[in-house]
Order: sequence, then C-alpha cells, then structure tokens
Amino acid sequence: MTDSAGTAERMTVRRPPFAFARSRALHWNAARPEFSQIVNAASLAMPYLEPYLIKTMREARPLITDEKLVRELDLYCAQESAHYRQHRRFNDELKAASPEAVNACEAQLAADYDRLGTHRSLRFNLAYAEGFESMALAIGHMLIEDREFLFGRADSAVASLVLWHFVEEIEHKNVTFDVFAHISGSQFWRIVGLAYATAHILWRTRGGYHRLLKADGHWYNWRSRLALLGVITRILRKLVPRLARILVPGYHPRRVADPQWMQSWAALHLEDAGAPARLDTSRLREATPVALPA
Ligand SMILES: [Fe+2]
Ligand SMILES: [Fe+2]
Repeated sequence: MTDSAGTAERMTVRRPPFAFARSRALHWNAARPEFSQIVNAASLAMPYLEPYLIKTMREARPLITDEKLVRELDLYCAQESAHYRQHRRFNDELKAASPEAVNACEAQLAADYDRLGTHRSLRFNLAYAEGFESMALAIGHMLIEDREFLFGRADSAVASLVLWHFVEEIEHKNVTFDVFAHISGSQFWRIVGLAYATAHILWRTRGGYHRLLKADGHWYNWRSRLALLGVITRILRKLVPRLARILVPGYHPRRVADPQWMQSWAALHLEDAGAPARLDTSRLREATPVALPA
C-alpha cells in the first residue's frame, strides 16, 4: 500500500465483524468519556453524510470520461456504503443508551443532508464532498498518529471501528479530488467546499457531543469540562496544520504520504479478515488483534 500504487489497487472493501457492547457504547473509552462522546457525535452523522456523498458521486458518474476514475468512484461508493452501515449498527447502540439526544441529532442531520442533496448544485455538492474528504484525510492522520493516547485501553470494537474507517478514508483519499477536478476543477469552489464542509461537520459534531454530555451529566462537571477543553485543544493542535496544508495552491491528496501503521493494519487484514474488528487497544503501537477465546 504505497502512494505510487494506483488508487483502485489501494482500495479494498472490507466488512469487519464488529461486536458492539451496548453497555460500553457511550463511554467506550472509560478514561476519556469526553473524547468518546465527540467520536459518538461524529458517528451519528455517518448514516446521513455518507449516503449524500454516494448520491453526489453517482450523479457525477455519467459525466466522467476516464474509465479508471469511474472504477475508483465505484470502489469509493462501496467503501462509504460499508462505513455508514457499520456506523448505523453502532449508532443503534448509542440510541438505546441515550435516545433523546440521539434522536435530536439524527433529525437535524437528516434535514441537513436532504436539503443539500435536493437543493444544491452538483458543483457545490462535489466541492462539499471533496472538502469533507480532505478534512477526513487530515483527521485520519491525526487519529492514527495519536492512537495510543486516544484509543489506548478503550473498548476494542469501537476503537477498531474508528481506525478501520479512517484507514479506508486514507485509501480513497484522492477519489473525490480527482472527480471534482475532472468535472469542475475550480480552485475557488474547492475552497468554498472545504470551508463549508468543515464548518458544517464541526458544528454538528459540537452540537452532538453537547447533547450527549448533557444527557450523561458530564457537561455539568467542571473537571469534565476541563478534560473536554484539553482533548479538543490536543486534537486541534494536531489537526489545524494539516488542514492548512489543504489550502496551499498545488495541494493534491495523493502527495500526502500514508502513515506507516496503515501497512501493519492492512497486513493484519490480509492475514485474518476478522482481526481488524478486534484490535488489542493495549498494544496499538502495532496493529495486533485480541485473541479469540478458544
Ligand atoms: Fe467513510
Ligand atoms: Fe470517505
């Protein structure tokens, strides 16, 4: 899995068998409940955001004259489809644990993406898709680099879900960029899409963890508020320089080198397709699975 490999060759559609535990759905990282709820809020968006990305790419498909890009687009849609289905399974557990907060978030997300998908132009939606994917690439690098801090000793299924998702986000890093370049290519609209998608997702995620942390009571605890501020500051410190790089003229996601850890993760999947669903979170330096009971 190197950057010189063709995009289609890099991309694999995987369906790891995650076993989510309802009792650990909300605070799947017991040491970091605030980070858990930030991730949970982002997870709630996936069954709305990713079908919108797929719909946008499918609308663009007949306009693409490059067969290789069409093949990449199809693989992209297959990966995104697998992502939101797994997140929906996890979100069902979140909904059982915190129904009012989750229902309120989902209603808002459903309305947002229905509006964008119905009323905005294809050019705008392609720019949003590319903006989101560039941000997801930056987030994927941040999460993988800081995996031991963010996911260490957390529930294996949820940590594995998030890391699987972002490995595949990195695998398909240049598809929406190339589709946007093929159909529009406007640098102005690319930046508009990045700004809109980033602001939209961050705002909805903020609203989501706000609701979830109010529902679980952490919002009213000053120690928890400080911990939340601490983890957000840590995330932004690592994320902002990566987001800033996207704005530099000549940026292309293909030039962003993949993290080394991805290779050990991909090798693990090749060895045992189920293993990435149960990473050993006490040994995240390498991608190592928890052993199955005999
Ligand atoms: Fe995805
Ligand atoms: Fe993606």
